[in-house]
Amino acid sequence: MPGENVQVAVRVRPFNQREKNANSKCILKMDRGSTTITNPHTGENKTFTFDHSYWSHDGFVEKDSVLIPDSANSIYADQRMVFNQLGRQVLDNAWEGYNSTLFAYGQTGSGKSYSMLGYGANKGIVPIACGELFKAIDGADKSNGKQMQVTFSMLEIYNENVRDLLASNKGSTHGGLKVRQDRNQSFYVPDLRNLPCENYGAIERLMKEGAINRTTASTNMNATSSRSHMVITIKFKQVFNNASGESTTKTSEINLVDLAGSERAKSTGATGDRLKEGSAINVSLLTLGSVIEALAENNPKKTVPYRESVLTKLLKSALGGNSKTVMIAALSPADINFEETLSTLRYADRAKKIQNKAVINLSPTEKLIQDLKSENARLLQLLAQHGTGASVNKDASQGFPSSADLELLIAQNERQMKETMMTWDQKLEEAKKEWQLEHVSASDKMFLEHPYFQNVNEDPQLSGVIKKCILEGVTVVGKCTSIQQSKKACIALRGLGIQEHHANIICNKNRIIAEPLKSNDVFINGSKITTRTALKHGDRIKMGSNSLFLFIGFPNERKKESAQELTSKCDYAFFQNELAASLGINYEFKTKQKDNSQASLARAYNDYVMLMPEVAQVNAISQELQKNITFQIFVLNLASHDSAGQEKEKEVAVKVVQNITQQVWIWSKAKFINRNYLIEELYQAFLDDPKHVDSLAKEDDPFWDPVEDIYIGCSHVWLHSLAYRMPLEDQIVILSHSGVEEGQMQVTISPCTPNGVVQGDDVMILDPNQLLGGRLDIFIQIHQCVGLQWIKQNNTRGILIKFKFYNERYGHQTRMVWHVVNPRMNFQKHIAIDCVDQDFLDYLHTNAIVMEVWGLQGGRQSISNITLDDGVIRASSPAITVSPPSTAASNSSTELEALERELEIARNNIEKLSEEKKELKELCRVLTKENTNLKSRGKTEKKGKNGVVPGNDIQAELGRALKRHFVDVRPVQNQLQNLARNDVPPEPRRSNNGLVNKDSYNDLRRYAETCQSEIGKISSGLDGAVKTLKESVAASVRAKKNESKVNGTR
Ligand SMILES: Nc1ncnc2c1ncn2[C@@H]1O[C@H](COP(=O)(O)OP(=O)(O)O)[C@@H](O)[C@H]1O
Ligand SMILES: [Mg+2]
Repeated sequence: MPGENVQVAVRVRPFNQREKNANSKCILKMDRGSTTITNPHTGENKTFTFDHSYWSHDGFVEKDSVLIPDSANSIYADQRMVFNQLGRQVLDNAWEGYNSTLFAYGQTGSGKSYSMLGYGANKGIVPIACGELFKAIDGADKSNGKQMQVTFSMLEIYNENVRDLLASNKGSTHGGLKVRQDRNQSFYVPDLRNLPCENYGAIERLMKEGAINRTTASTNMNATSSRSHMVITIKFKQVFNNASGESTTKTSEINLVDLAGSERAKSTGATGDRLKEGSAINVSLLTLGSVIEALAENNPKKTVPYRESVLTKLLKSALGGNSKTVMIAALSPADINFEETLSTLRYADRAKKIQNKAVINLSPTEKLIQDLKSENARLLQLLAQHGTGASVNKDASQGFPSSADLELLIAQNERQMKETMMTWDQKLEEAKKEWQLEHVSASDKMFLEHPYFQNVNEDPQLSGVIKKCILEGVTVVGKCTSIQQSKKACIALRGLGIQEHHANIICNKNRIIAEPLKSNDVFINGSKITTRTALKHGDRIKMGSNSLFLFIGFPNERKKESAQELTSKCDYAFFQNELAASLGINYEFKTKQKDNSQASLARAYNDYVMLMPEVAQVNAISQELQKNITFQIFVLNLASHDSAGQEKEKEVAVKVVQNITQQVWIWSKAKFINRNYLIEELYQAFLDDPKHVDSLAKEDDPFWDPVEDIYIGCSHVWLHSLAYRMPLEDQIVILSHSGVEEGQMQVTISPCTPNGVVQGDDVMILDPNQLLGGRLDIFIQIHQCVGLQWIKQNNTRGILIKFKFYNERYGHQTRMVWHVVNPRMNFQKHIAIDCVDQDFLDYLHTNAIVMEVWGLQGGRQSISNITLDDGVIRASSPAITVSPPSTAASNSSTELEALERELEIARNNIEKLSEEKKELKELCRVLTKENTNLKSRGKTEKKGKNGVVPGNDIQAELGRALKRHFVDVRPVQNQLQNLARNDVPPEPRRSNNGLVNKDSYNDLRRYAETCQSEIGKISSGLDGAVKTLKESVAASVRAKKNESKVNGTR
């Protein structure tokens, strides 16, 4: 029988709010079955073809909350259309007795759940299919005693553990449910609840219960749903008498799989972390990729790695087996998701090559029971062979089951036999009884009459699934392990950072008040509250590190804005933006045009908001594990690092502080994300066994890192005066990444002779072009740092300074100095530019040396083999050979090594030098001769007032003017740079009711005034400097004119 390929559909969703805010561009186009993606960086197109390409990006309107095409020409694919083309065939297959599988693949937020489950009135394939199935059952001909039975199960795979989503009250099974292989070699989960359903309502209830269990999952951690796979299985059984009157059973299994976000399938790569990447890599998803790849290759010699993950075991028959399979690849339209979307398209492209061989599952009912019986007999015999005490604990899947395993298998078989023989009506009756026992909870009517809390989850699919009524009196919020027993009204939370008795919610007639207990974290509308605070309809509440709720007030308060309107407005992103805003982090595009700096700011803002809950989570875990480590997000301003001061890039990073030793680490975003996964894993292990944390070696501890040097800030030493061979001496502010003053630094940069003798103003030139083609020697001195905050805060610390000049690869560094707030650096370095070219001149005109100050901390490991530059800037085609110049005075051991290396090079060059010396001597002889000639000529010319040649006098004057100009302009340049750093306006202060208080407006006004006055200073500084320069030049020109008049009249 020929196989049948996996059918593949792709679907693109509309922009979400965040993408709209960032002015995202759509990078996908669809034309019938083909989908084209455009690389936003290069404009390159790539086209794929699939069985279906669904355009759900635009061209729709909302009617009675349902999204439908906005016109007859619209190509918008709505939920109905997707169901008709994909879901309907799954149902048809089920009637015929084929197994079907439908799975959704794509990155988090791409629309997997929307297609599979749907939202509100926009029902997805699963609910529509279930509804249609029961409609068909109701309408089917049952005249010949035909029976149709539907059962439903729902499981989640998280971290390779299987959890039954319909078994909340059965206690969580340590390590999850077991996956076993049956006699037909297919995998299944024996202990999974498989509940009979008599109508669509029953399925709806179960799906709701599954969602609640998924939300309150035992892990308590953020974003677990994006890392877990959900598998819904509907078993459809038809029992009827065949033509010869024999009872026959036709079965079909429908698997509906909502996969974890595809971004979890691969390594993020460049974290640069010493620890391996954490559960960023989802084993099941990664293996699914390998299985698909192996199947697409269709090489009979290659084994397909089904056994390597739980998911692929369970999907074995869906992939390359007895199933008709459909894959929906969900796509994000936005340019920022290009890489992930392209990778999803490639994945889908491979999947379409997979071939399955589905068969109709039809057999006499009696045979099914017979099979089970004979299987049981075989197992019993095996067990007897084992004998008592002779249990061999081998893997069941390898065909060597242990006694315990055999006993389990027998018990399961017996249960299955009992089930097969039990009448359907009996099963339904049992399920109903159980349901009533478990669900005596609040009816929906209560929520119409009383105020309530409603959960908000990062996964929109899991928002609003938990509702807690607030009744008259005091409701306790917290872990409530002991309170629950005392039967007080309580809202039991299991989130991180939630205390046993966290807060009270007090309902007094028609007033609701929130009361935080001790200093527990309770935030209302983004701000932490410390005293009793009244709650209003629509308030956003955060407790602990990330337990979020929307407060729905009394019925009369809901008239202005209904609970439904609030729910769709106040999603997870809304909460996070509000929390960020209350920290003074705010971002909005002012214009439609997006330039690079805006894009970078938008990225940094998104990263900030994304990391916020994760940082709150690690802080809570750190506290619970008593790690004494605090995490804090901040924005790096890369402008401060750029030698031209023009870089607008911004980046977020996380500052990690050991509270006792005050040691500091800076983690990049990628490193933080990786560590966050590892910390979550560690916490999970701690919950399973608290001793695990104690026995952890420090090298394996995701909280631990060796002490490292911390970038504190830098000073910009502008170089343009060097283009005039003029020395510069300055005391410059050391500014941190966020523009805070960290201290000051005294620096001198002077021209010098090739032997390193510092030269003064006398070698100044008026036209920088004179430098072109010649050699330039400069001498850099860092004398002292003053007022170092880093040391003031903790005097066990030290610093060193690093910098690079022009195109140097390694740069230079000073010695290390410890414990001193105003340390003498005593650093000097002679740098020689062998042949000045235009590029180098441009560099001098527009760039600064960025002197980076690095903080040293106790426990620092000494780093040997530091490579430093030798101080020669070589032109691409050197005009002359330049020996390495004299080296800096230094007393640190690493620098000693560098010195030795330089000495070595120096020795090698001595020979060359003595050669040059000879040539130079000759040159000198010639020059002296010429000079004498010139002097004798000069004596015959008329001398100026001071005995100086008039031309030289003017030159000196102009030189002085220029020098003064540079001195005038330097502070202006620093001020300008400061302003360009976009320092942040003051945080709004809020009163208890969460409103911005009046003082805040005054803060802002003062801030605006400061900015204004700073700009004023800059502009008057600049005016002054230019005016002085103009006057000096004019004076010189006048002097020159007078001079020539005098000369002319004479
Ligand atoms: N085809 C679509 N039409 C309209 N909205 C969609 C569509 N697909 C996804 N969305 C919206 O995008 C958001 C993320 O979709 P979701 O299905 O939850 O993503 P995933 O399950 O892949 O993480 C949801 O708010 C959802 O309503
Ligand atoms: Mg989802």
